[in-house]
Amino acid sequence: MSHLEIAQVMAKIAGEMIKSKMGSGFITEDKSSSFDVVTEVDKASEQLIRQGILEKFPSHHFLGEEESFLSGRPLAEVLAEATSEPYLWIVDPIDGTSNYVQGIPGFTVSIGLACYGQLQLGVIYDPCGDELFWAEKGKGAFLNGKPIHVSPVNELGRSVVATGFPSKMEARRAVYEGLGRLIEQCRTIRSLGSAARHLAYVASGRLHAFWENGLNAWDMAAGVLIIQEAGGTVTDAKGNEYSLLTTDVVGSNGHLHAPVLQCL
Ligand code: IPD
Ligand code: CA
Ligand code: CA
Ligand code: CA
Repeated sequence: MSHLEIAQVMAKIAGEMIKSKMGSGFITEDKSSSFDVVTEVDKASEQLIRQGILEKFPSHHFLGEEESFLSGRPLAEVLAEATSEPYLWIVDPIDGTSNYVQGIPGFTVSIGLACYGQLQLGVIYDPCGDELFWAEKGKGAFLNGKPIHVSPVNELGRSVVATGFPSKMEARRAVYEGLGRLIEQCRTIRSLGSAARHLAYVASGRLHAFWENGLNAWDMAAGVLIIQEAGGTVTDAKGNEYSLLTTDVVGSNGHLHAPVLQCL
C-alpha cells in the first residue's frame, strides 16, 4: 500500500468508528480548560490511526494531537527529530470535538504526511457526509475521486468566508477582531466547527476563504496541501509562507487572499 492509500484507508476506518460511537455516552474530559475537551473516542481514533500507519511504516515519526498534549513536547522539538528519518505523519483524530460532543455532524479526521518538513499528502474524511478529500504534492486535489478546484470568485462582497473559535483566549480575541472587520466586507461568514473541513471546503470551492488564529499543525497539515493542490493560496495571517509551525492561518482561492489579509 502506498502512503496515500494507507492514509485514505485509516481516515475511513477511524471515521466510521467515530460515527458509530456518536451519542453512545462516551467519556468527555477537559484538557487545558473547559473550552478545550477530549473524548475517549478522540483517543481511540488516534490509537487506531497510529497503529495502522506504523504497522506499515514502522520507522516513520507520528504526531497526533492527543499524544502530543499528554507528552507536552513542543512541536519544534518533534520536527527537529524528523531528520535521519524524514517522514512525519501529522494527525488530528477528530477535528471538531465540540461538534462531536454535541452530536453535530461535520467533524472530520485529518491525516497529513510531511517529508523534511514539506507536505507530501493530505487526507480529510467527513464520516457523516461520507466525503473523502485528498491531495498529493504535484498531483492535484480530489473529493471522492473527482478533481476539485478553488472558486474563481474575486470580489470580497461575493465571498463566503469561514473561521473558528480557538480555545485560547488570546487567539480567540484575534479571531474576533478579524471578524469585526471582515463581517462588513464579505457576503457572509460561516463557522462549521472543524478547521480541516473549512480548508477542504476552500479547496472544493464551497468557501472562498478561511482564517483562524492559534491552530496547530494537526488542524491544518492535510488541508493546506489540499488547498494548494486545488489552486489556492495558504499563508500565515501576515502573508508569510505557510510552515508546519504556523498557528495563525489564511487559506483562500488566491483571488481573495490579499483583501482578506488586509482585514486581519
Ligand atoms: C478545533 C476545531 C475548531 C477550531 C479550533 C480547533 P479540535 O480542533 O478545528 O474548528 O475552531 O480552534 O482547536 O480540538 O476539535 O480538534
Ligand atoms: Ca482538541
Ligand atoms: Ca483540531
Ligand atoms: Ca482533535
